[in-house]
Amino acid sequence: RSDANAVSYTVTAQKGAMAFKDGRKTQTLGYNGNYLGPVLQVKQGQTLNITTKNQLNEATSFHWHGAVVPGEMDGGPHEPVAADATKQVSFKVTQPAATLWFHPHVMGSTAKQVYQGLTGLIYVNDQASQKLNLPHDYGKDDFPVIIQDRQFSAANQFDYDKAYSADGTTGPTLLMNGTLNPYVNVKTKLVRLRLVNGSNARNYHLTLSNQQAMQQIADDGGLLARPVAVKKLALAPGERAEVVVDTNKLAAGQPLAVMAGKQRVLQLRLAKHRRTSGQLPTKLATLPTVDTAGAQHQSLTFSGMGHMVAINDQTYSAKRIDLTAKVGQPQVWTLKNARGMMSGRSHPFHLHGVQFRILSINGKQPPANERGWKDTVDLASGSTVKIAFTFKNRGIYMYHCHNLEHEEQGMMGQIKVS
Ligand code: C2O
Ligand code: CU
Ligand code: CU
Repeated sequence: RSDANAVSYTVTAQKGAMAFKDGRKTQTLGYNGNYLGPVLQVKQGQTLNITTKNQLNEATSFHWHGAVVPGEMDGGPHEPVAADATKQVSFKVTQPAATLWFHPHVMGSTAKQVYQGLTGLIYVNDQASQKLNLPHDYGKDDFPVIIQDRQFSAANQFDYDKAYSADGTTGPTLLMNGTLNPYVNVKTKLVRLRLVNGSNARNYHLTLSNQQAMQQIADDGGLLARPVAVKKLALAPGERAEVVVDTNKLAAGQPLAVMAGKQRVLQLRLAKHRRTSGQLPTKLATLPTVDTAGAQHQSLTFSGMGHMVAINDQTYSAKRIDLTAKVGQPQVWTLKNARGMMSGRSHPFHLHGVQFRILSINGKQPPANERGWKDTVDLASGSTVKIAFTFKNRGIYMYHCHNLEHEEQGMMGQIKVS
């Protein structure tokens, strides 16, 4: 149902089973289905009403990753939904067009529930982006691409406890939108891919198989100022990037795929007659200049690996407020990945309830494709990243490493915004 000012959805976390490969079906979790979930579509300015239902036999929560929301609507560890319970969520969407996502966030079972399939998408649309000549026909020239790595047991099961690694659970098999060996039929000259790293702990470096550059048009939280040609796209857990692939110069039948190293993420099958899509706009959005006047400065150091991870030498406690901030006061945070004795680990930093901008990476300007709205940024081993943002809502928000096993081990803190 939708009217001009509100759009309503029901999202049910449930058990399922899926035939990913031949043989036995895999036991899974999904939202409104067997695996993954729906795309919730909302326009900027609308109120998003979501009836969340938990049909699992354990607690879960519904966290809207990347959404600018009041703390009590954020679905973090403080807002669990018990087994068989229902919770009504409602917030006004004020942020610009973006590809957001949602997933569980209860302490102790976030990583496992995500691994078993609980992930969905939110598309925020807005008027300014609708006026641009960008591919936007869902499933025709505009595709969600949720990338996950999994380990299938001999009996085709996701055996999380067996696949588990304290330093991040990974697997040898790639799934795209829950599909093995996926392809899409490309019937237009320009194709938009909304890339989502929905993996627990794996970083991807995505390329096109013909070495052509992708045109990146959006970061986590919205459109870039202009398209940026990217040959190799780094995507850390939790991050999103929207890219447009230009097939104008390619012949039908020519093999083309999105690759992660030597692994194929997605095959693009080029139809003989592809509809012309016109030119990609040279200007996409006007990003506000970052205002740091009178900013509050915070410094967070991420250290350790496996069970020893910490932020500023502490692990998460639900009872401890680590930082405080005021609505409307600019924040400048310095994020450091302390290079440990043995650790070459990166830590994908994620902050709830707000979108930020990257001021610098190791003292230098961020690359052109990371100058848009972000909610997750990879902290490479030994690196220092400065970000700036301003909270728009009150509440308690999490910040954490989006390597979900690190997060479960306490690489998370909370900030109270008043
Ligand atoms: Cu994508 Cu705190 O989460
Ligand atoms: Cu989040
Ligand atoms: Cu980490």
